Amino acid sequence: MTTTLIDGIGLLYTGDPEREEIPDAAVVVEDGLIAWTGPAAQAPDADERVDVAGRGVIPGFVDSHAHLIFAGDRTAEFQARMSGEPYTGGGIRTTVAATRQASDAELATRALGLVNEMLAQGTTTVEIKSGYGLSVADERRSLEIATGLTDETTFLGAHVVPADLDADSYVRLVAGEMLDACAPYAKWVDVFCERGAFDGDQTREILSAGLKAGLGARVHANQLGEGPGVRIACELGAASADHCTHLTAADVAALADSDTVATLLPGAEFSTRSPYPDARRLIDAGATVALATDCNPGSSFTSSMAFCVALAVREMRMTPLEAIRAATYGGARALRRTDVGWLRRGARADLVVLAAPSYVHLAYRPGVPLVHQVFREGLLL
Ligand code: NIG
Ligand code: FE
Repeated sequence: MTTTLIDGIGLLYTGDPEREEIPDAAVVVEDGLIAWTGPAAQAPDADERVDVAGRGVIPGFVDSHAHLIFAGDRTAEFQARMSGEPYTGGGIRTTVAATRQASDAELATRALGLVNEMLAQGTTTVEIKSGYGLSVADERRSLEIATGLTDETTFLGAHVVPADLDADSYVRLVAGEMLDACAPYAKWVDVFCERGAFDGDQTREILSAGLKAGLGARVHANQLGEGPGVRIACELGAASADHCTHLTAADVAALADSDTVATLLPGAEFSTRSPYPDARRLIDAGATVALATDCNPGSSFTSSMAFCVALAVREMRMTPLEAIRAATYGGARALRRTDVGWLRRGARADLVVLAAPSYVHLAYRPGVPLVHQVFREGLLL
């Protein structure tokens, strides 16, 4: 049993609501877990010592919403949007066609590349969705590949209705045979509840079937317009309602009164040139807010949580403290995890040493690579 003292921390952001920020701090790691946090002057002895020379430390980012199992490219769609075309979600079918054509090895290699890209940027926990297969075999293999990369796997057969089926038959397939094939590889079930994708009744049917199969629920809700997604998420006890861009007062109240986290995905608004969600309204109402990348080839092809933090601060009126909280603690709440997203005794020693004295620099110095070192389960990567 070796203990390591990480010493000389400028500002430690712990993510622990009981003591979120500790200046001139230290952390003790034992067997991959956090054993102690506090002021460096009070640090206990340890077998080894790492001096981070005044740098800031944060918990590893928890990216609770990503679509990493795909093939193909949608550069042209992005260019068209930047020339004024709206985002409709219709491009999902382009990625589905490319994904179905790709081999397992191609899909796995691409996804692993993205997970490693995330890790290098400080993301130590990532959720991965299916949703670009849309057939029993292609959804199942997408999830099987995802299980090799993370514990947080999400069945998103209900992304859009594939071109070759009518909506009713497809909803039956998703809630029946496809769910049966995918559930062994999934922790969560998700539905894109939106005009042009799945309506309220279809969303309820698919989520209920998933819950019955033992999965937890999450919902793509209220991204492109107002709709029933957020209310259904809260009613069914979903862990998270994601996007939350177009909310009524009743939606905000429902989120504030529930355990459903509002996961905001500003990379999607950036890359679709859309108005950002109103984080201030959600936080002021008392909702728990998470930030995630939504990394996918269509609406948000970024793997950078730091970029999302900077957008949240500049464009969504979140303070730097609220944004780092949402990117760590909030993401963990959205995945119902208590072992990650914060640095408190007993949590996983997933942490990022910043090339800056504090987390505030993530927004203050946008676009600058500020990850100095990443520790995962106590090991320096
Ligand atoms: O979360 N909105 C639905 N799904 C993804 C986008 C998928 C795509 O355009 O390929 C999202 O933004
Ligand atoms: Fe998404």
